[in-house]
Amino acid sequence: MHEHEFIGLQSKTLKGYIWSEACHLRQYMFWRVLSVLAVTPFTILSQRIVDDAIPSRDLSGVWYFTGISFALLLLHYLTMNRAVAALSDQTQEIFRNLRGRIFHKLNFMQFRFLDTVQTGRLLSKYAFDTSNIEATVIQIVTGIIPELLRTVLLILTLAYINIWLVLIVFICIPIFAIVRIYYYRPIEDNNQAVRVAREKMTGQANEFISAIKLVRGFGQESVAKEQMGVLSDAYSDMRVSQMNLNQSLGYIMFTVVTALSLFAVAFCGWLVIDEKMTMGALVALVGALPICLYPVTMMTQFSLQYLLGAESYRSIKELMDSRYVEEWNGTQHLQPMRGEIQLKDVSFGYGDEDELAIENFSTTIQAGEHVAFVGPSGSGKSTLVSLILGFYAPRKGEILIDGVAQSQLAIKEFRQDCAIVMQDNLLLSGTMMDNIRFGKPTATVEEVRQAAQHANALEFIEELPAGFETKVGERGVSLSGGQRQRIAIARALLRNPKVLILDEATSALDYESEKSVQEAIDYLAKGRTTITIAHRLSTIRSADRIIVLKGGHLVSEGSWNELAEQEGAFKDLLNAQH
Ligand SMILES: Nc1ncnc2c1ncn2[C@@H]1O[C@H](COP(=O)(O)OP(=O)(O)OP(=O)(O)O)[C@@H](O)[C@H]1O
Ligand SMILES: [Mg+2]
Repeated sequence: MHEHEFIGLQSKTLKGYIWSEACHLRQYMFWRVLSVLAVTPFTILSQRIVDDAIPSRDLSGVWYFTGISFALLLLHYLTMNRAVAALSDQTQEIFRNLRGRIFHKLNFMQFRFLDTVQTGRLLSKYAFDTSNIEATVIQIVTGIIPELLRTVLLILTLAYINIWLVLIVFICIPIFAIVRIYYYRPIEDNNQAVRVAREKMTGQANEFISAIKLVRGFGQESVAKEQMGVLSDAYSDMRVSQMNLNQSLGYIMFTVVTALSLFAVAFCGWLVIDEKMTMGALVALVGALPICLYPVTMMTQFSLQYLLGAESYRSIKELMDSRYVEEWNGTQHLQPMRGEIQLKDVSFGYGDEDELAIENFSTTIQAGEHVAFVGPSGSGKSTLVSLILGFYAPRKGEILIDGVAQSQLAIKEFRQDCAIVMQDNLLLSGTMMDNIRFGKPTATVEEVRQAAQHANALEFIEELPAGFETKVGERGVSLSGGQRQRIAIARALLRNPKVLILDEATSALDYESEKSVQEAIDYLAKGRTTITIAHRLSTIRSADRIIVLKGGHLVSEGSWNELAEQEGAFKDLLNAQH
């Protein structure tokens, strides 16, 4: 699927999407409708046996109608068989597709949006909400639609046999529905109460179990036990009433259905005596009545599932319709990229309020230049990097890469030519090798080793139990902050980028390793645009130019020697570190 086509999905509603995908269920529907059609004549056949064959003592007629019934039963069996096989394949395809689309959409969301959403909520859209919608759609498709069709056909058949039968059915359905809804409400409420009580109980137990050292270390076992006891009792009470309600619903419904059938028989009996109806019609109705009532049962059960599904639907729709898609879908390519970055009077703030993280910032970073951003914590250094990479759009001004505005650039290609070591280094699950290779999936083992060596990481990796094949995060192999940084540096160096961005890349290293990594970086910085952010000023001595930031403003710039001579912000920073 083409990326831009996907962004256009905003205009298409999720409902429309699911509906169009549900057409893939055509094959299922085809077989299912056929199976419904197969059982519909049963009512007429039994009526004919009673009304035609039996009174005329025609045994072959009985066999004839029974034979047709058996043939139809076989047809029903076969068509259902085909329907079920088609269903499982096709529904899974739909939801695999939906999950794929959600993930794809996430890759296009603005960081402005992602910053404000809890990761847990996004995860739950991906895994939980899709399953909920799945269950709802399947119930509609497999349950509601065929059952309603069956009932409608059955009522038409009854009308054909004798119109009085329809009247009786139409009296019975509302009575049944009222009783059903009356008793179903409390069950629904109770189900919810049980769920809440269970969540409270397991949540608290989880907390006490994971903090068991704290509880026992303070000798507070009895307090914990008491608190758990209260929650456990509450849960048990809910379960008891749930069981009672479920049991009662069973016998109440049996009573109601039987009573309605008795009423129907009596009413029909009266009509038979009055010669307004045949015996066969009475027999047909007795068989058909429970089937006509079944959709009511289904609808009440479905209502709960529907509420869950609708909630999930809203949750996914919110994401799909979100307009917070990256503005960047320009098409201009830079081939080859030189790496000149020009910021023109850029202002930017994270929130919608007036507070700015970067204000009227202008500078041009030449291709191949090594620039360092320094300044106190919170002065906007990392924000500048995010802006350069196009993670956020400036509120004012613009950023040009090789003279092309970011908004016209194929930004993904630009990012593919950059390498970044972030302040909070992220390792993915997988081996050390996988993590470094993430920067360049095609790299050979030798290239990976070399990058690791430049990043001063080779030694410690080789000491790990399985060397490069050691998995990150597995028992016992959690890396220290400095080790993570070195992996991240190796990943960036392996990429051989046009633009290298190092945000506090060596802050967690000891003096010795920092020096050797710094040498490697200085060597690699030659010939490519490099942006270094560092608190420890000693690491940026070799930069061509130093830009000093304060409160989002550029306060001074120049080479180390120039700045060190002037009075000002840089000198203050220097003095503070001595
Ligand atoms: N994702 C975010 N959402 C909202 N505000 C943010 C976000 N990231 C940074 N800020 C704010 O923007 C301002 C600049 O932050 P930035 O991270 O750019 O500072 P920095 O110079 O990199 O600091 P440090 O040296 O501590 O890393 C700060 O006031 C910070 O609180
Ligand atoms: Mg920062």
